Amino acid sequence: MEIFSNTVEETEHLGAALAEHLLNSGRFPAFVALYGDLGAGKTAFVRGFAGVLSPGSRVKSPTYTIVNEYRQGKKPLFHFDLYRITSEDDLFGMGFDEYVDAGYCIAEWCEHIGSAMPEEPVIVRIEKAGETSRKITLSEDL
Ligand SMILES: Nc1ncnc2c1ncn2[C@@H]1O[C@H](COP(=O)(O)OP(=O)(O)OP(=O)(O)O)[C@@H](O)[C@H]1O
Ligand SMILES: [Mg+2]
Repeated sequence: MEIFSNTVEETEHLGAALAEHLLNSGRFPAFVALYGDLGAGKTAFVRGFAGVLSPGSRVKSPTYTIVNEYRQGKKPLFHFDLYRITSEDDLFGMGFDEYVDAGYCIAEWCEHIGSAMPEEPVIVRIEKAGETSRKITLSEDL
């Protein structure tokens, strides 16, 4: 599925819509793999996603901490930034597998995940199509 977003808010709304869809379809736990360059809008998408699963939370890219945990919602939510992950050892070292089994996970920079990709990920690709326009591609198996 391909959708164009023309504002940050539209990208946030798409993130929210995906979270609603996962909740409504009883899909839990679930892993959302985000792909896209610096400044594509991955964190914007996560803001909308987290707004549904953990209302009121303030989302910031966990660039240095790798993962931010949101446990105040109905189900745990884990937001990853895998930019600084360079090996599967790094991933296992931070308890990646345990997170994957324990909640909704949404991860920026899944280019760095290699063969450690969890099963049946929801794939989201965000590409710059213009100054404020983004092409967002969601996997078909939703
Ligand atoms: N349609 C759009 N959707 C999302 N962001 C947009 C859009 N148009 C412009 N932007 C701008 O693009 C930037 C996206 O920033 P964001 O932090 O979400 O990117 P990112 O993919 O998480 O980058 P990083 O790889 O550094 O984490 C923001 O400055 C935002 O204002
Ligand atoms: Mg980001």
